[in-house]
Parts: sequence; structure tokens; C-alpha cells
Amino acid sequence: MRPETAVAIRLEDYASAPYRIDTVDLDIQLNPRAATITARLAISRQDGTPEGTDLVLDGDALELFGLAIDGLPLTQDRYTVTPDKLTLNEVPTHPFVLEIVTRINPDANTELMGLYRSSGTYCTQCEAEGFRCITYFLDRPDVLSVYTTRIEARKGEAPVLLGNGNLIQSGDLPGTDRHFAVWHDPHPKPSYLFAMVAGDLAHVADTFVTSSGREVDLKIYVEHGRENRCAWAMDSLKRSMKWDEEVFGCEYDLDIFNIVAVSDFNMGAMENKGLNIFNDKYVLADPETATDQDYANIEAVIAHEYFHNWTGNRITCRDWFQLCLKEGLTVFRDQEFSSNMRSRPVKRISDVRLLKSHQFPEDAGPLAHPVRPRKYTEINNFYTATVYEKGAEVVRMLKTLLGPDGFRKGMDLYFERHDGEATTIEAFLACFSEATSTDLGQFARWYEQAGTPQVDVKSQYNAASGDLTLEINQMISPLPGQPSSDPSVIPLRFGLIGPNGDDMPPSSVTGAKVQGDVLILEDKTQSVTFSGLPSKPVLSLLRGFSAPVQLEAHQSADDLLFLARQDCDPFNRWQALQTRATQDLISLAAKAVANQPLKADPQLVDAFGDVLTNEDLDPAFRALALQLPSEADLARDTGMNVDPDAISAARSTLRKALGSAHANAFKSAMSNRPTGTFSPDAANAGQRALANQALGYYAASGENDIEAVLTNAFDRADNMTDLIAALTLLVHDGLPSAEQRLEAFRKRHEDTSLAMDKWFMVQATAALADGLERVKALTAHPLFDFANPNRVRSLVHAFATGNPTQFARIDGSGFEFVADNVIAIDQRNPQVASRLLTCFRSWRAYEKTRSAHAEAQLLRISSAEKLSRDSRDIVERCLQ
Ligand code: ARG
Ligand code: ZN
Repeated sequence: MRPETAVAIRLEDYASAPYRIDTVDLDIQLNPRAATITARLAISRQDGTPEGTDLVLDGDALELFGLAIDGLPLTQDRYTVTPDKLTLNEVPTHPFVLEIVTRINPDANTELMGLYRSSGTYCTQCEAEGFRCITYFLDRPDVLSVYTTRIEARKGEAPVLLGNGNLIQSGDLPGTDRHFAVWHDPHPKPSYLFAMVAGDLAHVADTFVTSSGREVDLKIYVEHGRENRCAWAMDSLKRSMKWDEEVFGCEYDLDIFNIVAVSDFNMGAMENKGLNIFNDKYVLADPETATDQDYANIEAVIAHEYFHNWTGNRITCRDWFQLCLKEGLTVFRDQEFSSNMRSRPVKRISDVRLLKSHQFPEDAGPLAHPVRPRKYTEINNFYTATVYEKGAEVVRMLKTLLGPDGFRKGMDLYFERHDGEATTIEAFLACFSEATSTDLGQFARWYEQAGTPQVDVKSQYNAASGDLTLEINQMISPLPGQPSSDPSVIPLRFGLIGPNGDDMPPSSVTGAKVQGDVLILEDKTQSVTFSGLPSKPVLSLLRGFSAPVQLEAHQSADDLLFLARQDCDPFNRWQALQTRATQDLISLAAKAVANQPLKADPQLVDAFGDVLTNEDLDPAFRALALQLPSEADLARDTGMNVDPDAISAARSTLRKALGSAHANAFKSAMSNRPTGTFSPDAANAGQRALANQALGYYAASGENDIEAVLTNAFDRADNMTDLIAALTLLVHDGLPSAEQRLEAFRKRHEDTSLAMDKWFMVQATAALADGLERVKALTAHPLFDFANPNRVRSLVHAFATGNPTQFARIDGSGFEFVADNVIAIDQRNPQVASRLLTCFRSWRAYEKTRSAHAEAQLLRISSAEKLSRDSRDIVERCLQ
């Protein structure tokens, strides 16, 4: 385990590395409990480094077995070793070869960082700082080297040996049971992109011909017996390769592209050059075991990792503060890809929902940080929704401000100017600024300031003059370490809707820059006047969610319902109904707190009914529009004094009202499912989503055949989407046949761990009175495994984030259970533990009994006898 004492690393302290490492030759001798790594590093002094400067290499719990310079073993006085550093003194003044021999234990590696074994397969994860768990190195992204990797293993144990780049040699070792392979990657890369895999794996193969006519061999490696679940991932890969050529002009640059799916992986996937390694949940799919959401996720993650080849690998980050340079940009690219493959408005709504449910709370609490942080103690804790999702929003705003052509010019210049470099956000922005002659000085604040800007808009219409005036105010609430902030550039896409539902173009706009239908806000307060409006328009602001802000437009309930029915912008149509429902639910929750009777607003109930039956709308859109704000969304919008039980009561009141008011319409919608063979495409998935949404409301209708309808839906389901939808309702509503169907599901799927993850998750998120006890019991289930991150996430993490009333039980027992797990998991896998710990980040927003319980648990964690740097960092920031 890494040292627990942590020093803060600061952006302002960046200094380039004193030495370069031009080539890295690795020889990796694999054995389950002792892998020996011989690294030969061609090292030279950087210009400007004084002679005799110590060479300080990073290491992490390594056993050092040999050290030589230019073939001569080093005597003890030439170096010092600490748990995390190897320091060489009297370093030659001329270029030299440093040879290091280290030994590690792949089987004992429970952190899943560096080289480890997952279900018998040796694999690596080096981002961010995992390479130092393999050998001593300048383990920082601005040190780029050409790697040659020789891998040797027992042939029976690991018939497949994979590395970055191209295979240049392979063979058996005569007289032994071992064999080897040598891989060479001609592209200089940082150590975090190093990878190797060795195991007994099956594969599927395909080819892709690039725009310049080169044929690329594509292979996806999986455990034997899983080959028939790779077709969708392969198809997604080929579509990604083609799309990146067409939309960004990016062509693949090696003759081989390999993907390996492993079952124990801390994150989603990793873009190692030419050898992507994936959490198998983002590769494996068939209709029996994967939902439509799984198919969509696979498409997006395959694309994301592939797109990193240009945005991340060929152009990488100078330091880890620049993480958003590759991640925000690459998320933007994968979102655009999915939008092109599917329905753009539906994709946009889904992405914004995710942003609001994950990133907004992060940005409003103790873990808030700028898209480009200035300080960290553990970089693994900065793979956050802010860096990824808000980072993507910032790139999207850049495109909105510069227009599609300006944006493409900037990207072209970026690829041309920085190919082969490790660079910064400043350099990235400079490309857009120069390519379009635009000053992006103020825009850069989006990377520097934490917090979601709140935009408050008050409007006044003057019938005599035909003017509409908006008083617009933007501000970011004070945050830890950020008491004040400066105004951001906010592109606000707008429409002024006339009584017939059509947009009314104003004759002129004063008080803000306007580009087409986008107002560009730059000041703290602005007064904007639209002229030439014959009647009072209904305002549609922030169309398409053109900026990651929290908008308060003070619109009447009637205006919101008008927008929900009339806005030509599908995003705002969705948003208006959500806003209206949120208002109603928050006021219902306040009544619940005051023990008053709860009754849903009939107008709102009608509006949802209209969405359900509006055949002009895409089913996928309708399914999303019918989805009520989640309990977490409502907690966030409530602000302080959150009572999850009241929120839950409010939400189920509205669900029941909707279910019973429209029971017949839901009943007919739920049987309108795609026919014929299963297809995961957007149209079929949308139809299933609507049918299952309808099934859910029918379950809340109070009709007396509900259980029969649900068991029937379960029994007849011929795909995982429908099966899990029915099972979820049976379990969550605590119906008597739930147990038997859970058992049927287990029997059918117990050999498929990704399907069993869903089985655990359904139970983890059941808001039943004994929900916590069930989850506790499940941690003792024979199929539960603390060593498997997906399983931990599907039970403990799903409980903490998806079961708000049980997690935040008034007696504190839900918090205590999760804290116990954080402490236990931390011993084995700090990254999984610290991620789980972030579920406490909004603890101060609870009403006082719950927040006191949460604080007590955070204090207990912080005083745990042994705590990783990862968890220590999160717990301390939560408590600050
Ligand atoms: N770069 C990977 C991606 O595509 C994520 C790697 C995360 N690794 C970590 N140690 N946090 O998003
Ligand atoms: Zn990424």
C-alpha cells in the first residue's frame, strides 16, 4: 500500500523532468506470486539540468533486486531506496542505460493498480500512477518513451501474450514449458499508457480499413466461452473508427488494435496504446444478459477509449492537473458519437441528467474542485464527474461559442501543433483562440473556478413598446477554498415563444452579445432587452442545456406547462416538465415533513398524461419525460434540511396519482413492445423503455391485477431489459412473488457475473423497511465477493447511492453499514473504498439528526487505525 502520509501537489510547482527516458526495454517474467521485471532505460539529462543532479525515480512497494548503469552494478553508496523513491547520485553526465530488476507479486495485488491477476489473467492498470508498481520510473505523463516489451510466461498458463504496439517476435523457450512474445510500440508514450496482458484467452477478430487504405487487425480478447458476447463491442469499435475519421479527421495509426475484457477492474476502461483494457461490463453483451442501457454504455465506452488514441495518447497531458485536457475532450467526443448513432435530444437529456445527478452535487459540496484542479494529494480521487462531465460541457460551450467550423479549425490546429506532445489547457485554448481570432481569456475561468454558476433571470414585458427586458444575474455560492468568484462566459441559447407555439424573432437585442439564438453573458449582472415583440412571449432559456448552470427563470406553473407542450426545443420541453414536477414534489415533501395530507397537482398529472399519449413524440423521449426527478435530484434541489423519507413519500404520492389517473393508457403502452428478433438499436430500445416506464406506473396504479401483470411480464421477458424491469418492480414494491422470481433469476443467471450484478443491485436499491438488513445479509451470500469491484459497486455502492431512505435511516444504521464497508474495503482496494466514501459528500445537507449520524461515521472513518491516502483525502475534505 502507498504511504499514507500525503503531501499536496500543486499546479504552480510544476517543473519539467530533469532527465529524459528515450527508450524503455522491459523484460517481464511472469509467475503468479513472483513476477520479475528487468527494465533497461536509456536516460539522458534534459537541456538545462546541471551535471550531478540526482535522478529520483518513483516506486511503490517494489522489491529491488538489481541496479546497474551501462552494465556495471551499482554499489550501495550510489543510491538510496525509500518506499516510494529510488534516488541515484553521481549520475553519469553522458547518456546512459540504467538497468533495474524488481520483483512483484501479482496475486497479492488487491489494489488492482500496476500488474495484477484477474481470474487467472495477468493484466495491468497504470493510469494514473500504476507503472511505479511495476518498476522504478519517472512516472509522470510528460516523460515520453518508446517501449519494447518482452513477456515470458508458462505456455499452459498464458498462451496469449499481449503488449502495446506491434508483435515483433515470439516463440517457445526450448527445454522449458515457457514461451515469450516481444512487442514494440513505435509511438513515444507516457508510462501510464503502458500495458501488458497474459492469459488463456479466446478472441474474436475483424478488420477495419482506414481512410488512407491501411488494414487494421481488430481483436477483442475475453475468457473462453464469452466470444459470442463481443459482437456489439466490435461493431461499436468499427463505427467509432469510421466516425473519428469523418468528424474529426483522425485516422488510426497502428496495424493492430486490441481490446481485452477483464472481470476485476477499478474503473470503466483504459486507453493503453493499441491495447485497451476494459472492465468486461463495457464489452460483453447479448440480449439474455445485457440491458439496452448496457448496450448504449458499451458503445460509448468503446468509442471513448478508441477516441483517446488522438485525444490522450498522441496528445497527452503535461501533468495530472491537465486531466480534463484528455478526459473532458474525449467525453465530449464520445457524447457526440452517441448522438450521431442515436437520437440527439434523447442523448442530450440523458447526459444532462447524469451531469445534474452526479456533477452538480459534487460541485456544491466539500469535494468541489475546478475542472482543472490546482491541488491534489491523491490523483486517483480526481477522476471525477467534474473533470469528465463538466469538462465535456466546457468543450461543448467552446463549440457553441465558436460555431462548428471555428471549433473544427481549432481542433485541427491542436492536432497539428501538439501531436506527440504532453500539453496543457492553455495550449489547447490557444489553438481555438488563434484559429478563430477569439479572446478566450474569460472563457478559461470555466477551467479554473469550482461551483455551478446560478443564473437568475427576471423578465418584464412592456406591451406598449413591445420590449421584453431580462435582468440577469450570475453567481457561484462560496465553496471551501473559494470564497468568491468572477463571472463566467455563459452561452445562453434562447427562444421567445408566441401564443401559437412558434418562436417570435425579436427585431433587435441590446445589453448582451448575440450570436444567432445564443445570448453571450459575460457580466455579473446584465440587463438584456428584446424589441419588436407584438405580444408577451413565453421564455425558453438554456435550450439544449447550452451551459452547465443552474437556471432560475421564475416561470409560472402555467408557463412551464406551456413549454412542456409547445417548445420546439426537445430538451427544454423535457426540462420544463421536470422543473414543474420538481416544484410540486418539493412542496409535497415539505407537507410530508409537517405531517399534512399529500395530494398531487391535477394539472401536472394531466401534463404527464399528454406526454404518454402524444404519438408525435419519439418513444425514447416519452420514456425520459415520464421519469420523475429522482430522490437524489429532489434532495439536491431541496438544498438544506433534507429529509429523504419526506422526499420519498412525495415522490410515491405523485407516482400513484399518475398511475391511477392514467392506468388504462399505461396498460396499453406497456404491451406495445418491439416484435421480431431482438435489436439493441435506439428505436427498439426506446420502445422498450417506454413500455417499461408504463409498466412501472401501472405498478403504482392501485389496480388489483398488478402482481399478475408484473409476474407475467417477468415470465414472458425474452431479454434482460424487460426481465430486470419486471423484477425491479416486484422486488421494490415488496410483492409476495418477488422471492420466487429472484430465485428464478438466480438459477438462470448464476454463471454470468454481469447478470448477477444486476440481481444484487435490484435488492440493494429496494427501499423496503428491512432494506438494510437484506443488504447486510447479501454481503454474506456465496456469490458476493469483496475482491470484485463490480460486485461491491452493485451491492454496497448501489445501496449508498440508490437507496436514499435506507442509507440515510434516521437511526444512522445505514451510514454505519457503509462506513464499516469503507473501512474494510480500504484495506484491500483504496480506490474502490474512496469512491464508495464519496457517497457521504452531501452529508451536511441532511436535517440535523441524520447529518449528525453521518458526521459521526465520517469521524469514525477518519480515526480508523489504518487508512489509505485515497480514503484519508476524501474523508478529510468531507469534514473540512
Ligand atoms: N483513462 C481512463 C478513461 O478513459 C480512466 C482511468 C482511470 N484510472 C484511475 N486510476 N482512476 O477514462
Ligand atoms: Zn477517458
